[in-house]
Amino acid sequence: MLLHIPGLFDADETARIRAALEQTDWADGKITAGYQSAKAKHNLQLPEGHALAKEIGAALIERLWRNPRFMSAALPHKVFPPLINCYREGGNFDFHIDNALRQPQGSHERVRTDLSSTLFLSEPDSYDGGELVIQDTYGVQQVKLGAGDLVLYPGTSLHKVNPVTRGTRYAAFFWTQSLVREDSQRTLLFEMDNAIQQLTADVPDHPALVQLTGTYHNLLRRWIEV
Ligand code: NI
Repeated sequence: MLLHIPGLFDADETARIRAALEQTDWADGKITAGYQSAKAKHNLQLPEGHALAKEIGAALIERLWRNPRFMSAALPHKVFPPLINCYREGGNFDFHIDNALRQPQGSHERVRTDLSSTLFLSEPDSYDGGELVIQDTYGVQQVKLGAGDLVLYPGTSLHKVNPVTRGTRYAAFFWTQSLVREDSQRTLLFEMDNAIQQLTADVPDHPALVQLTGTYHNLLRRWIEV
């Protein structure tokens, strides 16, 4: 499932973030790439643990944890702290699949990358190219969202970032280990939760809601891994 979560940051917030990112020093994006993806990766990145990356990352995670759509779709168990990248002057990242496991710097705990997220920080008309291209079960999707919007997609998918031929594309990205490993099971639970929320709004006293909500939790209990 590919999910668009709009408006996590507003226009003023993304403008302030971009202003800070324009002033900072960048490293080669290959620092966090695996052996094979390093050959495909041509962009800039803030080093892991960079103060600005930590600040933006913490704000992003806090917003997501209060976002019912993200919580319902991702069923997050743990996350790899968000990284910040920058594509300009032809920068691109050719087709690859992300590494299955990530270990945050200074941590013993590893994160299985069930889900990938990209938060767009630049307005789409301020740069050319830079689409996130994701090979989904339904074909190829091209994603280029407004500043402050996020896309959530399965970590198992083949994806790339098209070359940025004008302007600068800033983004934050991170991985989530879900309580439910399989995308198909997570998608079923998300659709069921949406239906329950809608029924709760429209017919709050219907007795079948108790049964339906119970079934949601019983499926979740069956599939959950902690
Ligand atoms: Ni990737």
